[in-house]
Amino acid sequence: MAPDVTSFEFTPANLEEARAVLARFPADRRQSAVLPLLHMAQKQHGGWLPRAVLDYLADFLGIPKIRVYEVASFYDMYNTEPVGRVQVRVCTTTPCWLCGSDDVVKAARDVLGCEIGQSTDDGRFFLREFECLGACSNAPVLWVDDDYYEDLDYEKTRTLLEALKRGETPPAGPQSGRKGSMPIGGKTTLLETGE
Ligand code: FES
Repeated sequence: MAPDVTSFEFTPANLEEARAVLARFPADRRQSAVLPLLHMAQKQHGGWLPRAVLDYLADFLGIPKIRVYEVASFYDMYNTEPVGRVQVRVCTTTPCWLCGSDDVVKAARDVLGCEIGQSTDDGRFFLREFECLGACSNAPVLWVDDDYYEDLDYEKTRTLLEALKRGETPPAGPQSGRKGSMPIGGKTTLLETGE
């Protein structure tokens, strides 16, 4: 896991990107950039946000520290305690649960060797449960860092997580072979070509 720190600053590449993000907002609305900047900072710092990171962002944005603390502590996607670097989030809300999220959870526990809410012993992965990820038509869904993996079952989840453990990045999206959220058995409408 990334250590706690007493100081932080963006890498030159992230600093450039952060300035580009900030430029999208009016000068008197700098606070609006806090969400993407928290995301960038968390990624740079290995999956969580020590206080020094939050303070840096407050200074960078020129806003009171509390404005950054309250956002970081409110939203589930930000971690203010040390966790594994790779964020593995299983959706267990009703549509995903009906489509087999229990099997996804079981596969994640089996492969990662930790429970929901825990990180792996080597600090690489953080496994957690999440509410609806907004991709119910491709349930069940696993959100890994910036990617959604969809249409999962026990075996597909195992295969995915084992690949991630080997350092690979499997293609994101539906793991069932369908394109996007098209019907799983093929097209059901607009079948005529009009010729
Ligand atoms: S319920 Fe899982 S994505 Fe909506």
